[in-house]
Amino acid sequence: MMSTDWPKHDMSFLGGRRQRRLRRTGWMRNMVRETVLTPHDLIWPLFIIEGQNERTSIRTLPGVERLSVDLAVEAAKAAAAEGIPALALFPNTQDDRRNENGSEAFNPDNLTARALRAIKDAVPEIGLITDVALDEYSSDGQDGLVRDGEILNDETVAVMVKAALMQARAGADIIAPSDMMDGRVAAIRQALDAEGFDHVAIMAYSAKFASVFYGPFREAVGSGSRLKGDKRTYQLDYANSDEAMREVAQDIAEGADMVMVKPGMPYLDIVQRCHDAFDVPLFAYQVSGEYAMIKLAGAAGAIDGDGAMMESLVGFKRAGVDGVLTYFALEAARVLNA
Ligand code: PBG
Repeated sequence: MMSTDWPKHDMSFLGGRRQRRLRRTGWMRNMVRETVLTPHDLIWPLFIIEGQNERTSIRTLPGVERLSVDLAVEAAKAAAAEGIPALALFPNTQDDRRNENGSEAFNPDNLTARALRAIKDAVPEIGLITDVALDEYSSDGQDGLVRDGEILNDETVAVMVKAALMQARAGADIIAPSDMMDGRVAAIRQALDAEGFDHVAIMAYSAKFASVFYGPFREAVGSGSRLKGDKRTYQLDYANSDEAMREVAQDIAEGADMVMVKPGMPYLDIVQRCHDAFDVPLFAYQVSGEYAMIKLAGAAGAIDGDGAMMESLVGFKRAGVDGVLTYFALEAARVLNA
C-alpha cells in the first residue's frame, strides 16, 4: 500500500492537544522556548604558562591552548567583548617550582598571581576566578598534602587558606576551592574576612566526583603524569547522590556564595536536585573530558560538533544551572552573538 493510502486514524482522543502545533515553525519554537542560553552563562577556563607570546597546544584538548600571561590578557579582552562574565585561571606550574609542600600555591609571584594582576589591570570588566587546590603546584598531582600515602585534611586546608589569601591580594574576585578537603570553605571565608576581603566571593566545587573525565585537564596543567593512584579518598563516589547533597549543604552552611557540580553532563541529575533544594547560585563544570569527547567525535564526523556544543550547554541550563564552566565558552558566545 502506498503511504498516501494509509487510513487516517481517529485522533479525537487527543482532544485539542496536538503537541506538534507548537513545533511547526521556527517563530513558534522561538516563542515557546523554555530555556535561553546567553554568553553571560558561560565561564571560560584558561590555562596559563610562563613566557611571552607563548602558546602550547594540549594533545587531548583540541582547540584549547595554554597561554602565557600576555596572551591570556588578549584572551580576556576577547571574552569580555563577547559578554563572558568571568574567567577561571589554571596555571601549568614549571617542574622546578613544584614540591611536596605545594608552597608555590601561595608564592605571591606565582603564575596565577601574575595572570591575575595583568588581566585585572588590562580588562577590569571581567571577573577572575581562581582555583584553590594543590595539584597545580605540588609534585604529587594530588589536591592535598600527602604523607605516607594519605591525603592530609587539616594541613592541606592551612596551605589552601594561604593560597586563597594570596590570590585575593593579587586581585581574585572569586575563590574556587576544588580540593574537596573538609572545612576548607569555612576556613577560607574566615581568613578572607579577617584580612578585609569580605567582598571576595567563594564558589565551592561542592559536588566534585572522582572522575576519569578530568584526564585532559591533568595533561593541561601537568599534574597527570605525577599522579599516583586516584582521588577517591576525597572526591565523591560517582554512585552517590545523597552524599553529594550533604557536601553542597555543608559548603553553603560554611559560607559558600555559589556552589558547583562537577563533572557536568553525566551529573545533571545532581544539578537538578541542587537546583530544587538550594537557593544559592549553581554552576556546573563541563570538564575537559566532556569537551574532548564532543570535539573529537565532531572531528571524526560521528556527530555535528557545533550542534553538540550548543545542545549540551542548553542541557545544563535546562537542568537548572546559573552558569557553566566550559572550554567552549568563547566559541559558544560567538555563535550566540552572531
Ligand atoms: C583540581 C581540578 C581539576 C579540575 C579542575 N580543578 C582536576 C582534578 O580534580 O583532578 C578538572 C577540570 C577539567 O577536567 O576540566 N584541582
